[in-house]
Amino acid sequence: MPDFDVYLEDRRQQFEEDLCDLLRIPSVSADRRFAPDVRRAAEWVAEQLRHLELKVELIETAGHPMVYAESPPVPGAPVALVYGHFDVQPPDPLDQWISPPFEPTRRDGNIYARGATDDKGQMLTHLKSVQAWIETQGRLPLQVKFLIEGEEEVGSQSLHTFLKENRERLACDVVVISDTSMFGRDRPAITYGLRGIAYYELRLTGPKQDLHSGTFGGAVMNPANALTKMLAALIDDQGRIQVPGFYDDVTPLTPQEREQFAALPFDEAAFQRQLGVNALAGEAGYTTLERRWARPTFDINGIFGGYQAEGAKTVLPAKAGAKFSFRLVPNQDPKKISQSLQAYLEKRCPPGVTMELIDMHGAPGVRTPLDCPYMSAAARAVERGFGQAPVFICEGGSIPIVLDFQQQLGADALLLGWGLDDDNTHSPNEKFRLVDFHRGIKASCHLWEELSRTTV
Ligand code: BES
Ligand code: MN
Ligand code: MN
Repeated sequence: MPDFDVYLEDRRQQFEEDLCDLLRIPSVSADRRFAPDVRRAAEWVAEQLRHLELKVELIETAGHPMVYAESPPVPGAPVALVYGHFDVQPPDPLDQWISPPFEPTRRDGNIYARGATDDKGQMLTHLKSVQAWIETQGRLPLQVKFLIEGEEEVGSQSLHTFLKENRERLACDVVVISDTSMFGRDRPAITYGLRGIAYYELRLTGPKQDLHSGTFGGAVMNPANALTKMLAALIDDQGRIQVPGFYDDVTPLTPQEREQFAALPFDEAAFQRQLGVNALAGEAGYTTLERRWARPTFDINGIFGGYQAEGAKTVLPAKAGAKFSFRLVPNQDPKKISQSLQAYLEKRCPPGVTMELIDMHGAPGVRTPLDCPYMSAAARAVERGFGQAPVFICEGGSIPIVLDFQQQLGADALLLGWGLDDDNTHSPNEKFRLVDFHRGIKASCHLWEELSRTTV
């Protein structure tokens, strides 16, 4: 096994500078005003890969472009497909950032910027490990394919289509993704399960314009009143979702899984303190880790309508709406849920108000079997990078395309997360711990060697 330590030590500064370059590009996929920046991020990634002498292609889609690259085939060794994303979430609320979101800033061992951990920093570890192999060994010990997209944060629709049409080109034995978290500081983890998601916008329309709430209130259905009632009907006091059939296909937690979760050193009080809440909440009968990792949930992401500015204004708003989502667990089908949800809400939409339910995106949950033949190779690589063996966890977030990899390519995903739960992903002051950036690169260097020796 080649020794990368000297090389990696030498390149620390340069790799961090490269990361900062990418972090300066405001590649917000959700907001079309930033589309040219998403493209710039794609070009930046493509350029990095071109320097590694890979065959690189910038792929145009109906939405944002994506980048595909491959190294030469290595007979007898498995093929690894690295997936990641260069798009980021919107940076708002801007006034809560200590340093501006697209001016990467080092503070107390972290790099602060939107996308630092999700996913630019994590994704880059695999490009840098390939660079380490090429520059020290002149070659990789296995074929690596890179598929890096710009629509992950908005549901991966273009990639979903591309995957179906390019199964041969993308053929691989295993998928490698770093877009999740460790179990805690200096506690590396391999994630074997992610939740899915079903995301909606509900729009309610009442009178043709806003009304005086004194003159008309009580005689006209208020869309904001109707909205709160309809949303409240989606979940009961026990945290059970009320949409008919919602739980029909849920894969229940097995007793072994519950034992494994319970055996993890999870500190509820510290978790509560970290979030600044005076109590935790969730579905009755489940622990916090079970609620976060393996049970479906309902959350309102945003709610709008009526007067929001300073002072009191008496008004009966003409419109009200909300964006909300369910997190799903394996075997739940977002399409089935959409149908049932539509009927359930229509039944509860009162006279005097009309509703529109927009199905924004959906993806099922996913599990990587713990006996996947590449799992132990990954565990060894993580241990070499971080000096500690990983624990096996699930996570509550979603990476929509992972199930497609399983279904379309027949390849399981190794979710090797280098982030932390307190990285402030999707929130102000996102950060990535720089030691973990470098340990991630080292782990990835070892991963190529370990995977190349795995025969199935
Ligand atoms: N990297 C996250 C997914 C994630 C978050 C995994 C936390 C594990 C823990 C990803 O970029 C993400 O944010 N996904 C979205 C998916 C959605 C927009 C379709 C999510 O989970 O909200
Ligand atoms: Mn991500
Ligand atoms: Mn994200």
